[in-house]
Order: sequence, then structure tokens, then C-alpha cells
Amino acid sequence: MAGRIPRQFIDDLTARSDIVEVVSSRLTLKKKGKDYWGLCPFHNEKSPSFSVSSDKQFYYCFGCGASGNALSFLMEHDHLDFVEAVEALARTQGLDVPREEGIQSSASQQEDRRRKEMQAQQYRAMQLASDFYQKQLQQPEGLAGLTYLKEKRSLSEGVIQTFALGVAPDAWDALKNHLTQSGITEAQQLELGLLAQKEETGRVYDRFRNRVMFPIRNVQGQIIAFGGRVLDDSKPKYLNSPETPLFHKGQELYGLYEVRQQRGRLERLLVVEGYMDVVALAQQGIHWSVATLGTATSEDHLKRIFRLVNEVVFCFDGDNAGQQAAQRALDNVLPLMVDGRHARFLFLPQGEDPDTLVRKEGAGLFEQRVNQALPLGEFLLRHLRTGLDLNQIDGQTTLAELARPKLQRLPEGLLKKRLLISLSRLTGFEEASLLPSAQPAPQAVNRPPPATRQAIARQGQTTSPIEKLFRLLARFPELAREVPQDLDLSTLDEPLLKTFQPVLDYLQKNPGTTPQVLLAYWTGTEEGEALWQRARLALELDKSAVEMEIRDICRQLKAQQGERNNDQRYRELLHAMNERELTHEEHQELAELMKELPPSNW
Ligand code: CTP
Ligand code: MN
Repeated sequence: MAGRIPRQFIDDLTARSDIVEVVSSRLTLKKKGKDYWGLCPFHNEKSPSFSVSSDKQFYYCFGCGASGNALSFLMEHDHLDFVEAVEALARTQGLDVPREEGIQSSASQQEDRRRKEMQAQQYRAMQLASDFYQKQLQQPEGLAGLTYLKEKRSLSEGVIQTFALGVAPDAWDALKNHLTQSGITEAQQLELGLLAQKEETGRVYDRFRNRVMFPIRNVQGQIIAFGGRVLDDSKPKYLNSPETPLFHKGQELYGLYEVRQQRGRLERLLVVEGYMDVVALAQQGIHWSVATLGTATSEDHLKRIFRLVNEVVFCFDGDNAGQQAAQRALDNVLPLMVDGRHARFLFLPQGEDPDTLVRKEGAGLFEQRVNQALPLGEFLLRHLRTGLDLNQIDGQTTLAELARPKLQRLPEGLLKKRLLISLSRLTGFEEASLLPSAQPAPQAVNRPPPATRQAIARQGQTTSPIEKLFRLLARFPELAREVPQDLDLSTLDEPLLKTFQPVLDYLQKNPGTTPQVLLAYWTGTEEGEALWQRARLALELDKSAVEMEIRDICRQLKAQQGERNNDQRYRELLHAMNERELTHEEHQELAELMKELPPSNW
């Protein structure tokens, strides 16, 4: 894997790029006074309330409150993660993004180059195959496929185009001949899973025949695999590409590329089971669904999803298999449920899937179902207490036993606190006894590193002003503007300053930094670890209350700073008194200082 992007590069890049340029390549902006104005891309509006400041290098919408800098604009607007946003910004400057890597020998550099060339070849072959399947839709050989898509599945031309659907003709060597003519060797086609091979005879033949074809694209839009469906009831209904150098099934989400091509704010993603579900939902106007490829939703999938949105809704069939799949999804999502993220579970009526249902009832009603989906907390409690009699001690004890491992998987935060309260009421156990016993399990999943445990342990004691500031700024980084530039913390006896000060400096230099950008920027450093601990502790806070609290803390710190200065001046004067005669003014000053200093300094 590529190494980290050097921090210095990101700093130079942001310093060099201009937010006005970035935004105006995507929206129409008009200059009014010092700032630029346009229609906000993050909510619907008729008159412009979206402002971009060239001086401050950040944007702010007076309508919906969206704000941030060039990187967060790219993340939100183009649905990119941090690294992708850095790459996009670099492209606007014509720069390549360097990576921190160990010194490479020239042999391994060459090896790298060769691997990249080979990969480019492979992507080209997949694209050629997809173009071929698409073209077949217009040929007599593809007529059955086209009829199937349009009539059996009621798909429009538009959505067939968007998802680049195609058809594999009913022949053993149609694709093979086509690709071979384009210079792709049989060995390459085999490696990419486009051809299959008979074990006994060694003969190779087109893997996909007489099927409608769904190309699977990676986030850059490159085709990495195919899914193919039969046109009738024969088996197997779906055939997918095998694992290949380009395709790792457990990580990919069908439809994610297409979702990200959409404009407008992406708030949540719906996870469904099938290709057809994603396509049918999109045709009806629900452009925010993705499908796992015949596997359970994995932690990798979820990490991908939460890099783009804070809410995921899992959609399941109403049958037993659906319930089982929901439990697997639940287990995988628990460790990722830090504050601010949401997960919900939608169960469809028996015998329906999103494809059939959205075509029956339309996008509006379907979306209502999504809005009413069970929140994770509710689903978890319901699932755990199924079949238990909570009026009986046995039932209560069983619930406590079942709950423990689930709670253990949840990170610290509001959800965990809230569940503990409910479970304690339901079971009659104290909250503490629902948590794993004090002895640390040797292999506990998600066991926080020692520093986190210290921070959590410290929570109970009085929190230092710097700790408070750190937590509040982790949640609302843009409020760093409330911290006076001349506040000098360096004389404080506070170990936390080692990580807090660089973060504060960064925030003051980069106004409008969003929490995502902040966390991503410091990833993999001590500062990042400290930030992450605090971001996940962050409470549901009201921004204007936080603003006042930050001002208060800074006033306090400022006053302390004044005191420290006084203290130092007092000592100076005492020292001077032993060396020489003080002036009249100095005597007066000394008298003043003695009045102000707390008695302990006398
Ligand atoms: N799947 C698969 N292989 C199969 C069956 C299913 O890989 N033999 C995967 C496919 O990704 C498929 C998903 O599981 O899209 C859901 O399968 P299923 O519910 O059986 O099909 P539907 O999506 O409802 O397909 P259709 O509506 O086309 O019948
Ligand atoms: Mn279906």
C-alpha cells in the first residue's frame, strides 16, 4: 500500500490553492464586495446564501450553516474521502501526491512501475469487455438481453446507461475473440476471470454467456469485475467474477461509484442486497443505495461508508435469512458507532425486496420506510430480549449475559451510555456490572491503547482547561477562531500541551477546518491519537454554547497568564531590591502587585 502523504505537502498544497477557484469550477459564483456568492450546493435554495471568502479561504452558507475549507468542500461536494480530496486538489495544481515511503531501491522502483503498467493493461481489458457487453445490447445477439432489461425489469435507457449495463451473447468465444483481436492475451483474460477453463481438457471459454451484465466499478470508476444474471429461471441466477488481482469481493460495494457521481449533499447510504435493487432504486430517484456482493456487510464496507456519510441504513428481506444477515451487520457495525454516527435497520415485508417494493409504491413511500427504520439501539434491545421473560430473574440475568459482549464491542460514547441505562433498568443490574469485569481480557477487541484508558480514567476527576478546550475543538474545530492569537500557553504546567499546541496552531492557520479534515490531517501521529480520543468522547453539544465556553476558558487562561506575569515581575522586583535602590515607581508597582497576588505567593 502507498504510504502516508507528507504533512508538509498538504500544508504547501492548501497554501497554494485558492478556494474560490476550487468552488467556482463547480458552481457559478458572483463577486459582491470582498466575497463571492452563489446558490448553495448543500441545500435547495432560490437566492444565493452561499459565500466564499478569498481572504479567509473558507466557505459559509447562511442558509444551512455548511462551512469549511477547500479540502472539506471537495470532500462534501464530490463525495471524496480526505486522501482523494488531497489528490483532487493536487490535480488542480498539476502536482503528483508524494508518499512517505522507505527509501526504495531502483530495482523495486522498477518493479513498482511494471506493476502499475500491468494494472493499467488489466483495467483496459475490463473496460473493453464492458464496452463489448454494452454494444451487444444494440446487436441482434443481444436483443433477448435488452428485452429482459426493458420489459421484464422495466429499466429505462437512462439507467441502463448510468450503470453501463450490457449483455453477454450466448456463445463460447465471442468475448474471447473480441479481446484477443484487441491484443489482450488469453492468459490475461483468464487472470481477470473473463475466461474460464475446463479442468479436464484445458480448453478456455467465455465465463459469462447469455446473461445481462452488471459491471462493478471501483471508486475511480474503473471496472474491476462483473456480475451476470440469467434471463430466465435457470441456475445459478447470478454469476460473479472470481477474486482477481483487481477484485476483492469483501471490500467492494456495488453502486458506490454511481452514488458519488450524484450532485448534492450525501447524508446517508442505504445498503441493500442485490444489483437489481440498486439499479431499480436509482431509476425511481433514490440515488443513495449500494449493495454488498453476495456477502455480509463487513467492517471494511462500513469503514468505507462512514468515510462518506454519518448514517447507514441496512435494508433486509423480512424473512429468516434477513434477520440473520441483520445480526451479522449489527455485530460488524458496533465497533464503529462513535458519537455522531447513526445506523438503522429496515425490514421489508415478506416476499419483497427493494426492487419490487420501490416499483410498487414509488420512491416517496419507500423513503418513508427508510425514515422509520429501527435505530440501532432499539434493534439491539429488541433482538437481545426476544423470547426472554423479563419479569423473571432468569430472563433478566440472561439479558445481562447477552448484552455484555455487545456492549464490549461498542466504543465509549452516548449510545453506550444510553444502552447501559436501559439495560440496567430492564435487568435490575447496576450499570457497572453490565460492563466487562475489571480484569482486562487478554485479546479484547478494540481495547483502547493505554493513553485512551488514562484519558477515560481522568474523565471523573476535574478536567483541566486545556483538556476541555481540546475536547471542544475536536468537535468544533472552526471555533479555534475564538482562541486569542496572543494567548500564551507555553508557561502552563500541562503535559497535554505537547499534542494540543500543534493542533491549535494548525487550526489557527487553517480557518474553517472541519472535524473530518482535522482527524484525517493528523492521522497516524500522536496528535491524531489524542484528537481521536477526544472526538469520540465528544458529547452532543450546542455550537453556540461551546463558543461561549471556549471564550470563558480562554478568559480564565488569559487571567492566569496575567497572574503568572505578575508573579514573575514581583520576583524580579524583590531580586532588584537586594541589588539596588528601587525607584519610587517601582515601589508603587511592588505595592500594587502585593495587593493582587494570592497570599500563597508572598
Ligand atoms: N447473488 C449471487 N449469486 C447468486 C445469488 C445471489 O452473487 N447465485 C448475490 C447477487 O449480488 C444478488 C444478491 O446476491 O444481486 C441478491 O440475490 P437475490 O435476492 O437472490 O436476487 P435479487 O437481487 O432479488 O435478484 P433478481 O431480482 O434479479 O431476481
Ligand atoms: Mn429481486
